[in-house]
Order: sequence, then C-alpha cells, then structure tokens
Amino acid sequence: MNLPLKFPGLAEALATASPQFINLYDDTLPSSSGSAGGAADEIAEGLLAEAATVSPKFFYNELGSKLFEAITGLDEYYPTRTEAGIFEASHAHFTRALASAGITQPCLIDLGAGNCAKAMSLIPHLQPRQYVPIDISVDFLRDAAEQVQNSFPALDIVGLGMDFSAGLVLPDQVQTHDRVFFYPGSSLGNFHPGQALEFLQHIADPAQGKARGLLLGIDLVKSTELLEAAYDDALGVTGAFNKNLLLNVNELLESDFDVRQWRHVALFNAAQSRIEMHLEAECDLTVRWPGHERRFAAGERIHTECSYKYTVESMTALLQQAGFSQVEYWTDPKSWFAVFWATV
Ligand code: AVJ
Repeated sequence: MNLPLKFPGLAEALATASPQFINLYDDTLPSSSGSAGGAADEIAEGLLAEAATVSPKFFYNELGSKLFEAITGLDEYYPTRTEAGIFEASHAHFTRALASAGITQPCLIDLGAGNCAKAMSLIPHLQPRQYVPIDISVDFLRDAAEQVQNSFPALDIVGLGMDFSAGLVLPDQVQTHDRVFFYPGSSLGNFHPGQALEFLQHIADPAQGKARGLLLGIDLVKSTELLEAAYDDALGVTGAFNKNLLLNVNELLESDFDVRQWRHVALFNAAQSRIEMHLEAECDLTVRWPGHERRFAAGERIHTECSYKYTVESMTALLQQAGFSQVEYWTDPKSWFAVFWATV
C-alpha cells in the first residue's frame, strides 16, 4: 500500500484495523447448505407447506433488531434483565471458572450478539484477547461492533455477519486458542432440542468449534401465565415484532403481505415445553409473490417461532450429551433463568 508520508503510522493502523468486519451472510445469494438456496426460496418453501412456517431468523431486519431491543426493556419480558442480574451477581464465579479451566487468553465468541450489550458487561471481567460478535442482522451488528470498539479501544474485534442456524463455520481470523462461546439470552431455545444438541456437539468438537468453554443463558420452565405474558405484552411490542417479519418477507420474497390482516398469537405448549408464536389470518386472503401464491382461510396460522424452555436438569443432560464434561450453573432467586458454564 502506498500511503502519503504525511500520515506516519497510518499503514500500521490500517493493517491492524479493528474492528474487522467480515460479512458471510448474503440473503440474495443461494445458501451454501440448502439445495434450493437463498432466503427467498427458504421462505417460499415454508409458506407453501400445508402448515405454513417462517423461520424466526427472519425477524431480524434492521427494524426487527430494534423491536427486539425494545422487547428486552418491557416489564413482562423478564429474561434479559433476569439474566443480566445473574451475570452481575456471578461474574466473579465465571472469572474463577475460566482461570481454573486454564483459560488465560480467551477468544469470546458471541453467538447472536445483537447490540453486544451483554458481552460489554462481561468484557471487563473476562478480559478477552479477542472478541467475535456474530449476527444475521449485519448492519445492526456492524454499528454495535463499532460501539464496543469505542468502549474497549485496545480489544481485537472481529465482527461476523452470518446465519449460523444451518451450521457454524468460523473464518481463519478467529483465534483457535482458548475459545469461549457466549450464547446468552436463551437464543438456543429457538432450535428444536435435536438441533440444539447437534449445534452444541459441533461447538464442543475439538476438530470443529474447538470450544474450551461455553457460557450459556437459558430460560427455565415456569407458569404458563408468566411465560405467555412475556410473549404477548400489553403494549403490543412483541406483536409488532412478530408482524414485522411479514414486512421483511415482503422485502426478501417480493410478496404482498398486508400486516393489518394478521393477528399476533403467543401460547405455551406445555407438552413440548415451548412458547410458540404464530401469525393468524383475520380473514380469508391470498398472498402473492413472483411465480406463486398462497391462500389462507380466516383463522389459519403461520408458525413463526418456537422458544423452548428447559429445566436445569434437562439442560445439564443436553450439555453432557453434547460432550461437555463439566457443567455448572447459576440462577436468579426465583429460578426463572439459568446461566450455565460448561467445559469440554
Ligand atoms: C431472542 C430467541 C431469545 O425467544 O425469547 C422475544 C426472541 N421472541 N420475544 C425469545 C423473542 C419474542 C427471543 N430470543
């Protein structure tokens, strides 16, 4: 690189520029995993199924990420603040747990980092050597990574725009030594238990994820009333978050969903231990997109999200089955939420 001499040090500064940002997510390109490929094809397939579904990853366009951020501040949505309370009360334990596992220069890999707020509260305690926030909401993450860098100017940050729901493959820029995966907020709950097991196995695999440890936040089973209120708040923010998925789908699929024709539904399916979110057609209607259409009868639903709830026993068993040999956890006084520390 030929740089003018009047900026001494600029070449070095650029060479080590942090945050780096690597975008491996392109919703217009065929995905590497599916044969059909591409966000549009994936969405169309779900909409054309007899029981229509759209993956919850399509909540997170720019507005969706902001609406989720708003949800985390709602009275009814206890997970975020309850988890923050556990982090606050237990960070000394995490620090000790890392030290006793011999992890001295952690690479903190933040899965579904969003606004990076949770990691920011832990970074001063865990003192990572490298911080790797990953999210499908690419522009939102880019801004968040800049803010983390402002708060921690010396930290090596590698932001990754990525959809890891179909598999996590980390680029060479991510340090392989002392990897600590951070998966807060109960986002693992979006996977069906079989997929969650597979994902955890991948992380724990020395040839793949190479995790030394995993710090995992999980929402726990509790009363139906509390659970359903958390996903159907009085202000209607979660309803707006759910319906915004249709706006994102309109953009990606060039479809013509009218959000006013849809009702937000959230219910706890106790048999499957999961919150389900649906969008329910308020009248008979037809949705059209290039080459296809789908008719919905009044009352028919699109299943948009599963959010599985675990017990400390069921999650401990899942982690052990995935290959984590040591598992410990901390909860809040009401046992509404748990933070697990698992080592391979
Ligand atoms: C980001 C998946 C953890 O399941 O609680 C919040 C998403 N959906 N309100 C959750 C969500 C509706 C959230 N996760």
